Amino acid sequence: MVWTAALLVIVISYVNSEDYCYGEPHCDPYAWGDMFPSCHPLLEEHHSPINLDHQMTRNESLRSLHLEGFDVIQPGHWALKNDGHSVVLQVGGGMSVSGGGLPDVYHTIQLHFHWGGPATNGSEHTVDRRRYPMEMHIVNMKSIHPNLTEALGDPTGLAVLGFFIDVVYADHVHFGLVSQKLSSVAYKGQTTKIEPFPLMNLLPKHNMSQYYRYYGSLTTPPCSQAVVWTLYEVPIYISWSQLAQFTSQIFSTEEDAEQVTPLQNNFRHIHPTFSRIVSVSKDAKLLTGTASWPLRSAVSLHLLQIILLGSFLSGL
Ligand SMILES: *[C@@H]1O[C@H](CO)[C@@H](O)[C@H](O)[C@H]1NC(C)=O
Ligand SMILES: *[C@@H]1O[C@H](CO)[C@@H](O)[C@H](O)[C@H]1NC(C)=O
Ligand SMILES: *[C@@H]1O[C@H](CO)[C@@H](O)[C@H](O)[C@H]1NC(C)=O
Ligand SMILES: *[C@@H]1O[C@H](CO)[C@@H](O)[C@H](O)[C@H]1NC(C)=O
Ligand SMILES: [Zn+2]
Repeated sequence: MVWTAALLVIVISYVNSEDYCYGEPHCDPYAWGDMFPSCHPLLEEHHSPINLDHQMTRNESLRSLHLEGFDVIQPGHWALKNDGHSVVLQVGGGMSVSGGGLPDVYHTIQLHFHWGGPATNGSEHTVDRRRYPMEMHIVNMKSIHPNLTEALGDPTGLAVLGFFIDVVYADHVHFGLVSQKLSSVAYKGQTTKIEPFPLMNLLPKHNMSQYYRYYGSLTTPPCSQAVVWTLYEVPIYISWSQLAQFTSQIFSTEEDAEQVTPLQNNFRHIHPTFSRIVSVSKDAKLLTGTASWPLRSAVSLHLLQIILLGSFLSGL
């Protein structure tokens, strides 16, 4: 009897450990590789997220992406779901992305969010080591693939559009269509319907030709290296209260769980770029605008050393 109970406990904890998490050491991002081998950060592997710094290369051929169907109201219903790891908006058909150096047309499947806590930022990618309060990912699948399993086996099977989310004092009216519905999906497994709206309303109105491009992975298990990343330079601005609806009103546990756990800091740690090239679109400016400074100071330091060496030698 005791043995059966003990066995049951082992079996249950084993089953639970098959799920990943963010906050507990046995299942957090550093432990994902134990359950999902492809999450192991081996040398030279192309993992995401990364830090965006001055080591980027301008590519003049990277112009605006074509966002098909983003400016109209799609028919049917969309579904907002708390999957225990994020809040996901399933958007049905009718939208796709192409151009901007993407190798194909990609159908839009869903978008979801990553955030921090009441006092911490939670974007996945960082800019000069700075973390934004949130990050939104619009996930698109290459149109030649019949399903996600197939797409994850293709190094460019998915195209994810990443948007940083920053905070100001005014509400983002259209973002409110999503954030107001969050109370209906507070607990894991909960789903609610959302009336479709033009997805473009969530995105920055201008500056959509300013972005960064690199090849990486999913930032959640199975961490497949199948993603063409497009990270937009200009963030989406929401209000403090809209941010708080994510950081303090979403739970990673089910409604009837004995212990409720807030879903916070649902971002994966930064990975090295190794030999990867991170490209900057033709119009992007933020990082390249300041890129010459570290270079210039490095050069002048070098000059100083030569001068000092010169005066040292001439003193001899
Ligand atoms: C610039 O981007 C295009 C489209 O992705 C690509 O084909 C080309 O190789 C890139 N050029 C460089 C120098 O990386
Ligand atoms: C967090 O985000 C805020 C608002 O954008 C910013 O002022 C702050 O510098 C960020 N903090 C960190 C540690 O990146
Ligand atoms: C995905 O598509 C492939 C090719 O059509 C098929 O063999 C496979 O069974 C599909 N997988 C799933 C999970 O539907
Ligand atoms: C956005 O684009 C406009 C027009 O091209 C430009 O003047 C402005 O500096 C850009 N904003 C940022 C933050 O890059
Ligand atoms: Zn994501």
